[in-house]
Amino acid sequence: NGQEALSRIAAATDLDTLEGLRVSLLGKQGSISALLKTLGAMSPDERKVEGPKIHALRESVTEALAGRKAALENAALEEQLAAQTIDLTLPAPESPRGSIHPISQVMDELAEIFADMGFAVATGPEIEDDWHNFTALNMPESHPARAMHDTFYFPDRDAENREMLLRTHTSPVQIRAMIDVVRESPGGAPLRVIAPGRVYRSDSDATHTPMFHQIEGLVIDKGIHLGHLKWTLETFLKAFFEREDIVLRLRPSYFPFTEPSVEVDVGYTIVNGKRVVGGSEGWMEVLGSGMVNRKVIAAGGLDPDEWQGFAFGTGVDRLAMLKYGMDDLRAFFDGDVRWLSHYGFSA
Ligand code: PHE
Repeated sequence: NGQEALSRIAAATDLDTLEGLRVSLLGKQGSISALLKTLGAMSPDERKVEGPKIHALRESVTEALAGRKAALENAALEEQLAAQTIDLTLPAPESPRGSIHPISQVMDELAEIFADMGFAVATGPEIEDDWHNFTALNMPESHPARAMHDTFYFPDRDAENREMLLRTHTSPVQIRAMIDVVRESPGGAPLRVIAPGRVYRSDSDATHTPMFHQIEGLVIDKGIHLGHLKWTLETFLKAFFEREDIVLRLRPSYFPFTEPSVEVDVGYTIVNGKRVVGGSEGWMEVLGSGMVNRKVIAAGGLDPDEWQGFAFGTGVDRLAMLKYGMDDLRAFFDGDVRWLSHYGFSA
C-alpha cells in the first residue's frame, strides 16, 4: 500500500528507522522490489496498466526517502549547532614552532657582540676565485700553505679565466672589505668588520665536516697594534661565554696573511668531566690571528705605511659546541629535531 509507505516515511523520526524503511521497501527483498518482479508474469496488456503504476510508486517512495533523510540530517545539524558554544576567551592550544639553529643563533650572538664594539658585518661569495682566497692573502701559487687547505676546486675556469673554488676560509672577505672601502673612500678609511659564513674543505671525520662555519674579524686603522687585538678578543670571549674569568694565552704562530701571527688559547676548567671555558686548568686553541701582513694590506689597495690592522678567524661550530656543551660536530648538520631539542633548541 503506497499511501501507507509514504506516511510511515514521513513519520520516521530518526535515520536508523528511515534506513529500515528503505530496506523493507526498496531492498532486494523489499515489497516494492517484489511488486516489480510480478511484472514479468503479467500479460502485455496487464503490464501496460500495472507497469507505470509500480514505477511511479517506486519513484515517489525514493523521493520521499531522500527528502525525509535530508530533513532529519538538517535537524540533527541544527540541534548540534544549538548545543555548541564557542568560548573565545579560552587560550589557544600551542602549536609546535620551529627554532633558530644553534649555528645561526651563535652567528647572531657574535654579530651583536661585535656590533657593540663598532664592527659592521661584511660578506663575500662562497664560490670564490683563487686570487681572493689565496694569492691576495700572500699565498702565491705553489705556496705550501695552499696544500693544507684541502680545497674543492671547480673543474672549469670562469668567464674571466679565473680558477674557481669553494672558499676554504672567510679570510678572502678581508680583501673584499678593503677593496670596497677604498672604492668608497679613495686613499682608505678605518675599517672594522666581521665576516661570518660557510667555508669548505675536503675533510670529513668526527671533528671535521666538509662544510663548516667561520667568523673573520678585521680592523684597519692608523697605529693599530697587538694590544688592540688582545683586548678585542678578550672582550668578545667574555661577552660570548658570559663569564669574567676568561683567560687568554697568545702563542706565536704562522699564517701567510698575518705577521706576526698568534694562535689564541682559552683557559678551561673541568666540571663533571667536561671542559668548561673559564679559569686556566688547561688550554684549548680557539682562534688564529695576527697583525695583517703588509702584502695583504697592499693587495686590498691600501698603503701599508699608512694603515695597519689586525685580523682573526675562528670556527663558529666549535664556539657553539663549547658554549652549549655539545660534543658531536656532525650532529649540527643532521637536522635531527630530537638532538636540537635536547640542547634546548626547539619549541
Ligand atoms: N684563515 C685562518 C684559518 O682558516 C684563520 C685566520 C684568520 C688566521 C685571520 C689569522 C688571521 O685557519
